[in-house]
Order: sequence, then C-alpha cells, then structure tokens
Amino acid sequence: MNKDLLTLAALEARDMDMLFERALAMKDRQKKGIADKLMTGRSLGLVFDKHSTRTRLSFEVAAIQLGGVSIFISSRDTQMARNEPVKDTARVLSRYLDVVAIRTYSQAYLEEFAEAADIPVINALTDLYHPCQVLSDLLTVIEKKGGYKGLRIAWVGDGNNMAHSWINAAAALDFTLTLACPPGYHPDDAVLSAARSRGGKVEVTEDPHEAARNADVVNTDVWASMGQEGEQETRRAVFQPYQVNSGLMAEAAADAIVMHCLPAHRGEEITEDVLEGPRSVVWDQTENKLHMHKAILGVLLK
Ligand code: CP
Ligand code: NVA
Repeated sequence: MNKDLLTLAALEARDMDMLFERALAMKDRQKKGIADKLMTGRSLGLVFDKHSTRTRLSFEVAAIQLGGVSIFISSRDTQMARNEPVKDTARVLSRYLDVVAIRTYSQAYLEEFAEAADIPVINALTDLYHPCQVLSDLLTVIEKKGGYKGLRIAWVGDGNNMAHSWINAAAALDFTLTLACPPGYHPDDAVLSAARSRGGKVEVTEDPHEAARNADVVNTDVWASMGQEGEQETRRAVFQPYQVNSGLMAEAAADAIVMHCLPAHRGEEITEDVLEGPRSVVWDQTENKLHMHKAILGVLLK
C-alpha cells in the first residue's frame, strides 16, 4: 500500500484482501476482549468539511481502542476556512499528528493535501469517492456471503461517490458489478473506463430490474448527496423508478442481501420494509466501519 488511502483505484486485490483479513482478525480479538494497542502515543486528526455520524465516530473509537487519541477538526474553525494554503496546512498538521482522515468536497484538494503531508492521509469521503465505506461494506459481504468472488453485486441509484468506489473495487476484485442509474446520473466515464481497462467486470444500465435480477447483493445510497441539497426535488422525481423496494428485491437471488451505507431516506431510495427487513445488513455495515478503520490505521501506521 502507498503512504495514503485516497482511492481504491490505487489498491491491488492483495492490498484489499490484507485489509479484510486484518479487520476480521481485529474484530474477532475485540469480541474476545483482546486489545490491539497499535496507536499508543499516536494521534489521529479528523478534518471534516461535511457532516458525519458514522465515519467520524468509528474513526474516533478506532483510535481510542488502538490506544491512541483522535482530534476532531471542523475545518470551518481553522485557518483553512480563511484560505491558508492547503500545502501549508498539510505540513503544519504533519508536525503534530501521526495520521489524518479528511472529509471534503474536492478529490483534488485531498490529493494536494496528501502530496504536501508527511503523514498518511485517509479519504473519509469526497464528492468523487468513499473508499473506506466500500472496504467496510466488502467486509460485510465477505461475512454474509463467505467471500466476494463470483458474486453479482448490483448498485441501484446515483452514479455517485459510493458508486465510484464500488467501481474501483470491481477493477481489482473478482465480482461482477452492475449499476442501474438514470440518464444523466451515470458514473463518471473516466472512473468506468479505468476500471474496465484493469479488467473490471462493470456494466451500466438504466433498468433497475436488469441490475437486480439474480443479484447476490443489492446496494443503494441517497439520491442527493451532501452538497447536492439544492437538487433534492429534481432528483426525487428522476430517481423514483430506482427505489429499492420489495418489488425490486423480488428480482434478486432468494438469499440476496440489501446494503445501504446510511444515512437512509426511507420512502425515497429504499422502503421501510426493505431497510428493516430480514435481508438488510445495514447495522452490520455500520459496525464494520469501526473494524475496517482499525485495520486501515494499523496498516498505514505500520
Ligand atoms: N456512511 C457514512 O459515511 O456515514 P456518515 O456520513 O454518518 O459518516
Ligand atoms: N453519497 C452520500 C454518502 C454519505 C455517506 C454523500 O456523499 O452524501
């Protein structure tokens, strides 16, 4: 693995498999009451430009369980909000912290920060990618399905940051990803072609039933991501046929699981009965963010 975790496009299958193994082992030890104090005396910074419940909390608890500390930095309270150059902020934070996770809008900003930082930088979500979420979601797939190889994974909804990280994962791992997205809301062409050029089995359709048919995993996310609040009404109309409901789930394999990174908008991208139903694994996804973040911190801090 590189110094940073900015995108799954930079990871090989062996990197992801190593993270899955480490996360599963750390989860097992935690359940047995064994502590992995890999961060004793070390500090994790969390620089967040956008809201978060799960990612912030799971990273904070991960650092604490590993024997380190976490420091939450709301960027609007710092000199970043008063235009201190990114490269200066990155070098300053590198003199205090051992690792930093950043949630922001621009992937280019994150990459500029990582380039100037001496410490590992983790992408805690940008407009383009959400790599840590997809790693922890794949951990849930492995637990529920016994592995990811040969699975048919469906993405139904927006071609957004989560979709892009799933596409990046499909570039390296042996599963088939079919995304159903409305016209005008397809994933980024460059992300798709990069994955296909690495041999990724990725298809895009505009028919949600085609994506869900015989799927082992059906995945969705909000129709309007953070930063797109002004498009909420337009998107609600466009995405209505892409709702994950019992009708769509009837197309999937009998033992299919339903995934959502949360927060969920019940009655929009997913219905209450499906989200709360027996095929939903959303609370396990939430828990696995903690175990995966511990594995990521352990690997990046060495
Ligand atoms: N899934 C996820 O990233 O949730 P938060 O926005 O609450 O961190
Ligand atoms: N696509 C969503 C994911 C939230 C965890 C967003 O970016 O808001």
